[in-house]
Amino acid sequence: MKRELEELSGLLTSLREALELEKLSGVNEISSELSSAGRTDGGRGQKEEVLQKIREAVTGCKRCSLGETRTRAVFGEGNANADLVFVGEAPGYEEDRQGRPFVGEAGRLLTKIIHAMGLKREDVFIMNVLKCRPPKNRDPLPSEVALCIHYLREQLAIIRPKIICTMGRFATQALLDTTESLSRIRGKSFWYSNIEVIPTFHPAYLLRNPGDKKLVWEDMKTIKAKLAAANE
Ligand code: URA
Repeated sequence: MKRELEELSGLLTSLREALELEKLSGVNEISSELSSAGRTDGGRGQKEEVLQKIREAVTGCKRCSLGETRTRAVFGEGNANADLVFVGEAPGYEEDRQGRPFVGEAGRLLTKIIHAMGLKREDVFIMNVLKCRPPKNRDPLPSEVALCIHYLREQLAIIRPKIICTMGRFATQALLDTTESLSRIRGKSFWYSNIEVIPTFHPAYLLRNPGDKKLVWEDMKTIKAKLAAANE
C-alpha cells in the first residue's frame, strides 16, 4: 500500500512538473501525453513518443550560443522504461561528432562499469545536463545550465527511473542544487522529485585517478542492491 501511494505521488509529481516544464520549454502536449502514458502504466512506446518530441526540441535548440558551435546536439539514449539513469556533464568531442552520449574514452569506461553491474547500455538511460558541447570542453556556464536543464528534468519526468546516478561534481550539484563537494556526498542517498539519487565519480575523473575505481564500484553495488530491493 505504501509503495502504491509512493508511486501515485511520483506520478502526480511528474504531471505537475511536466505542466510547469511545458510552459518553460515550448514543448507542447507533454503533460497530456505523459498523463496518458501514466494511465497505461507508462507503456514504453508512449514514453518513447514523448521523449522523441523532446529530442526534436533539443535537436533544433538555439537557446544559447552552444547551439551555434556544436556539431550535433546529444539528447541521450537508452531504455525509456529504465530503472536506472546515468547523468553526466556535457558532450565531449566524440559525443558532439556522433550525437550520442558517452562514446569517447570516458564513455568506454562507463560502458564497462554498466557491464560489470550485469547490465547493458540498452537497459539504462544515459544523458547529460548540457545537450551541446562547450567549446574545447570548458566547464559549462551557469547561464547555459539555466537554459538547458529543463530538458534533463523533462527526460527524468517521463522516464521516472527508480535510481538516478549522477556522475561527477557538475551533474550532482546541478541536479541536486547543492554546492556540497562530491567527495563528501558520493555513494550517499538523495532525492530528486521522489526519485533516489546516488552520486558517484565521473568516468573521466576515474581515467585520471584509477585508484578511486573501487569507490565507484562500491557505489554501483549500492545501486544494484537498491534496484534489487525495489523490484522484489
Ligand atoms: N562526459 C560527459 O559528461 N558526458 C558525455 O557524454 C561524455 C563525456
